[in-house]
Amino acid sequence: MTPKNPDQYRVFGNPIEHSRSPFIHHAFAKQTNQNIDYQKKLIALDDFSNAVTAFIKQEGRGANITVPFKEQALALADELSERARLAGAVNTLTFKNGKVFGDNTDGEGLVQDLIRNKVSLNKSKILLLGAGGAAKGVLLPLLAQNPDSITVANRTQSKAELLCQHFADSRVTASSFLDVADKQFDLIINATSASLSGGLPAISETVINNTVTCYDMVYGNDETPFLKWAKNQGAAKIIDGLGMLVGQAAVSFSIWRGVSPETLPVIDELRASFENE
Ligand code: ATR
Repeated sequence: MTPKNPDQYRVFGNPIEHSRSPFIHHAFAKQTNQNIDYQKKLIALDDFSNAVTAFIKQEGRGANITVPFKEQALALADELSERARLAGAVNTLTFKNGKVFGDNTDGEGLVQDLIRNKVSLNKSKILLLGAGGAAKGVLLPLLAQNPDSITVANRTQSKAELLCQHFADSRVTASSFLDVADKQFDLIINATSASLSGGLPAISETVINNTVTCYDMVYGNDETPFLKWAKNQGAAKIIDGLGMLVGQAAVSFSIWRGVSPETLPVIDELRASFENE
């Protein structure tokens, strides 16, 4: 008997060279005995919709979408999950029965990683730094964990205010960086892109104490500037975004394949591969 051809998946982005998604999804497939092939694909900036159509014609089953196509993926989907609609972005497309389904698994990936790290979210006070796509994408899944409050603080305060209006939930309020200085939080999530350019959101060290957990959505071989700073100020716990990366992939995988892979072995493998680079 000839073996069945693997089901095809892709990650579309630009740039895409450094994407870890093929590694992660192949590791999940091995772990759960799924016959899939997952490749990264560089898409020209004006060619996203053609690329998706061509992949559907080749019987592609699903695709992850990364920068800068997440909003275009939202527009292209025939049906959207509530969390994708509120995030205003799609990172997971599923092609089924002639239709394109759009979802966003980033927020759920973050929440699962926080739970895996034993960070208690119920009744917690959360400070979310940033008001761009990354912050917007995680608000609804965070709210579903029943926090007491989420303060959205952004360098440009007006953007934080717009984001809070969009969510219209009394637990979500906007702030400037300056105004959080005299407040206490259980969890601080850095959803700014500052770490990517070696920067640090300009918040007061008074928000750091020995009970606060600090999470940076960015990850890398070295500690991010934000996590280094938080540790130096005495934060109880610091966590980088590698687990969120693997977590969002795990949620996409379970949407596509109907099985939830374990994330920890894959996080460990990825961490080890960074150290060998
Ligand atoms: P993403 O999709 O990663 O969220 P984005 O939509 O471009 O990217 O948003 C970037 C976010 O990081 C914004 O909240 C931005 O703050 P501004 O709205 O004030 O620009 C924030 N950001 C980027 N660099 C920063 C820095 N050095 N300090 C503080 N915030 C920064």
